[in-house]
Amino acid sequence: MTRQKPAFQEVYPGFPAPAFESLQSRRLAADDMLQRAEAFYTEMNARRTTRQFSNDPVSQAIIELAVLTAGTAPSGAHQQPWQFVAVQDPELKRQIREAAEAEEYKTYTQRMPDEWRAALAPLGTDYVKEHLTDAPWVVVVFRQKYGLRADGTTYKHYSSTESVSIAVGLFIAAVHHAGLTTLTHTPNPMGFLGDLLGRPKNEEAMLVLPVGYPAPDAQVPRLNRKSLGQILQVGRGSS
Ligand SMILES: Cc1cc2nc3c(=O)[nH]c(=O)nc-3n(C[C@H](O)[C@H](O)[C@H](O)COP(=O)(O)O)c2cc1C
Repeated sequence: MTRQKPAFQEVYPGFPAPAFESLQSRRLAADDMLQRAEAFYTEMNARRTTRQFSNDPVSQAIIELAVLTAGTAPSGAHQQPWQFVAVQDPELKRQIREAAEAEEYKTYTQRMPDEWRAALAPLGTDYVKEHLTDAPWVVVVFRQKYGLRADGTTYKHYSSTESVSIAVGLFIAAVHHAGLTTLTHTPNPMGFLGDLLGRPKNEEAMLVLPVGYPAPDAQVPRLNRKSLGQILQVGRGSS
């Protein structure tokens, strides 16, 4: 049995009715749609995580547009639980690098279990994080674990990890689309970033994304992406 749509006041007694507006959308011709979908896939398939950056400058306008793009992401209850901090100042980047490398050094030399080391071996990463000082911008993404009102009271955030992850996906796509590159970096642990960047206690650093041009001699590990058959099931499975 499917259900009849209830009246708003039945579900939300006492709440004011939300305001609606017409959805602005356009219907594309089927072949145009296919062409656009293929072109977008081809563009995104050329994206690679880059670990060696040129220090050539990048205009703040590009960073702002990538963050605006990230901010178009859907979010649980439209709470937009993200905060981006863009760092260009060489001294602040140096401090981030120093603190990140201190943690990464401990991770790689003392804390890393064998299984994790085996997973990273094909990438060849280590505890030297030169991208944090070479890239012209380092963008740190914070997740707001809960909402904080101006008067200090708090409220719950719904699905904030999923929401911030989607926003970061859009940010990465926007950076790539603009002709730049980034690295999704997760120094572990990264509590130092909140202190260093002066963020409030309801926020937790989730990712560090250096943004810039790749170094002319940048190298990336040779990787394969899973095929469509490996990542898509259409309809019901058999197990
Ligand atoms: C959540 C997440 C965390 C990651 N953390 C790191 C990291 O700390 N250091 C690093 O060098 N790469 C990191 N990466 C990048 C991955 O290693 C990279 O995306 C993967 O090897 C695939 O390569 P590609 O992005 O070029 O397709 C991370 C990626 C994601 C999505």
